[in-house]
Amino acid sequence: MNDVEKMIGAANALVVKGKGILAADESSGTIKKRFDSINLESTENNRRDYREMLFTTRGINEFISGVILYEETLFQNGKNGQLVVKALQDAGIILGIKVDKGTVTLPGTNGELMTEGLDGLRARLQKYREAGAQFTKWRAVFNIGANLPSRRAIAANAHILALYALLSQVSGLVPIVEPEVLMDGDHSIEACRAATEQVLTEVFYSLQQYKVNYEGCILKANMVLPGKTAANQASPVIIARQTIDCLKATVPASIPGVVFLSGGQGDDESVANLNSINIMAKTAHVPWQLTFSYGRGLQSVPLKAWAGKPENLAKGQKAFYDRAKVTALAREGLYKA
Ligand code: 13P
Repeated sequence: MNDVEKMIGAANALVVKGKGILAADESSGTIKKRFDSINLESTENNRRDYREMLFTTRGINEFISGVILYEETLFQNGKNGQLVVKALQDAGIILGIKVDKGTVTLPGTNGELMTEGLDGLRARLQKYREAGAQFTKWRAVFNIGANLPSRRAIAANAHILALYALLSQVSGLVPIVEPEVLMDGDHSIEACRAATEQVLTEVFYSLQQYKVNYEGCILKANMVLPGKTAANQASPVIIARQTIDCLKATVPASIPGVVFLSGGQGDDESVANLNSINIMAKTAHVPWQLTFSYGRGLQSVPLKAWAGKPENLAKGQKAFYDRAKVTALAREGLYKA
């Protein structure tokens, strides 16, 4: 197999039936926020212990195809002196890494953001590949508001995402392209649909301009949802209809899969909506696998159960196993509340 065939193989393995991705790539700032919720200091050892708790959970490879890591974790030694990621590799779980360096304000916009990290990326990708990574992730974010997202912010981030995806692929790594339309605000589901459609149209236009190989590329998308504080919330069936119609209007058929972020949905919501999307997909002639790449959706329950205490290791692992199991059922449209 040549590098391109291997990359396409990894992309398909990540979205294989019955499984999805764990996003454990919280930056130092984000993991601090998560740890604050359990009154735990964000030290290197605490981050290691938490992630080791997740990664050494027996049987998660039944439900988890790949894990997105933060750079620190890819090179970190566990308590036993072996690399933290060895447990994942031993379980046949594919290693991935977040390669963007976070967001900064995009000048000339009303406080909109652009994602940084292209400088020096090629050399970093080489290092990650040597450490065993087979895929990468880059997240761009868009807010919905009066005249937001703007054409300028969409175009700038789409362009950057395409360069990132191309650089990943020439390094033999599968890019997970993540343009996230945030659910913060009181906007309607129709507003989210319109913004998501605009963003995805531009992102795929840019990917095509740079001749990114769609077969070796995965889209990480938000579900189409009403804003968190919107007066009118929507049922899982409406969310599935809007999400599938939006993706069909914008995403090329040769992408092997679309993986959803949980994006701050409640735990039940993120599972019920994924379930509904997959039930509808069975009759909607959808060409891609539709699965999860959840951070909070998979981690909030186990984080609370573990609570930073070594004596809660088994509790945390049981909570993680159960969460991965129900989410994987929802990925098949087989989840029952
Ligand atoms: P959430 O599922 O918590 O939204 O995180 C997924 C992710 O990787 C965001 O970049």
